[in-house]
Amino acid sequence: MLEKFWGEHDGVDFPHVVLAQQFSREQLEKIFILTSILKKEIGNGKMVEWLYGHIVLTLFYEPSTRTRLSHETAALRLGARVISSENAAEFSSAIKGETLEDTIKIVSAMADLVVMRHKATGSAQKAASVNASPIINGGDGLGQHPTQALLDVFTINEHFGNVDGLKVAMVGDLKRGRTVRSLTYMLSKFKGVEIYFVAPKIAQMGEDIKRHLDENKIWWGEEEEFQEVALEADVIYMTRYQLERAVSEEERRELEEVSKSHIMNRNVANDMPETSIIMHPLPRVEEIRWSVDQNPRAKYFEQAANGIYIRMALLLMILNPSKAVELLNSN
Ligand code: CP
Repeated sequence: MLEKFWGEHDGVDFPHVVLAQQFSREQLEKIFILTSILKKEIGNGKMVEWLYGHIVLTLFYEPSTRTRLSHETAALRLGARVISSENAAEFSSAIKGETLEDTIKIVSAMADLVVMRHKATGSAQKAASVNASPIINGGDGLGQHPTQALLDVFTINEHFGNVDGLKVAMVGDLKRGRTVRSLTYMLSKFKGVEIYFVAPKIAQMGEDIKRHLDENKIWWGEEEEFQEVALEADVIYMTRYQLERAVSEEERRELEEVSKSHIMNRNVANDMPETSIIMHPLPRVEEIRWSVDQNPRAKYFEQAANGIYIRMALLLMILNPSKAVELLNSN
């Protein structure tokens, strides 16, 4: 039964989406099948009423283009109504000192599901622990961004037809990037994947993630240069250096300097294997040159568009699981 779909993780019951590692491989496969069905059924701009009568709240304490708007588009296309606080840090009662838990209790009387982005790591779990409306984590500080990982792995699976055995290189600010943390957790569910972390020391992936890979017997390696890795990898996952998260002016300057050594340009892209792909969670700044957009390996805009269908699948599974089961069974 889909009602039991999510199981329990870290004390958080279904139907919250808070951590990439909460999903089993079987669950991921179901989500990807449903996403493909929805992409086919509703990808042509169709509107349906499968979520008619539901209200979805997007509660964003940090800026966003893709995550907030794609959840809203997904909800609207499925027939739900949307209410939004797009600058909740300033324009919600958080500014008056209201706790996140109180806010979630209050908004749960107004919305059937809350998509939340917050600057504090662990805030999604905190919001979910209130056990009110379902919470979808749209990014929590330096923690995770599980729906981004879902759309990333869906895009990889859609392109290659599988994920097992692929070589994935993550490039850039891996220390401050929540998307790469969630992506690594999710890739660890697949067999024989190899992960390269390509970053200077001040931006390398956290020890907790490397420990997780060791525990799950997933091969990983660290590199500082990425030109050679680009010759071998199936997926190059570029990320932005998150200067706004630097803890001092000195760190900010240092990050700005090292960011110049990890640029995906026309030459690096052309040298990559023909079947390989270039991904990026976006927004990009300088790390992928505009000229790469014309390269057939560039997947990042398609990747972002897939976010709408992944989020449709999640909303449907949470708010109308019987329709999700019907679609899955009819496939
Ligand atoms: N990838 C991503 O999270 O983009 P936004 O910050 O625009 O939501």
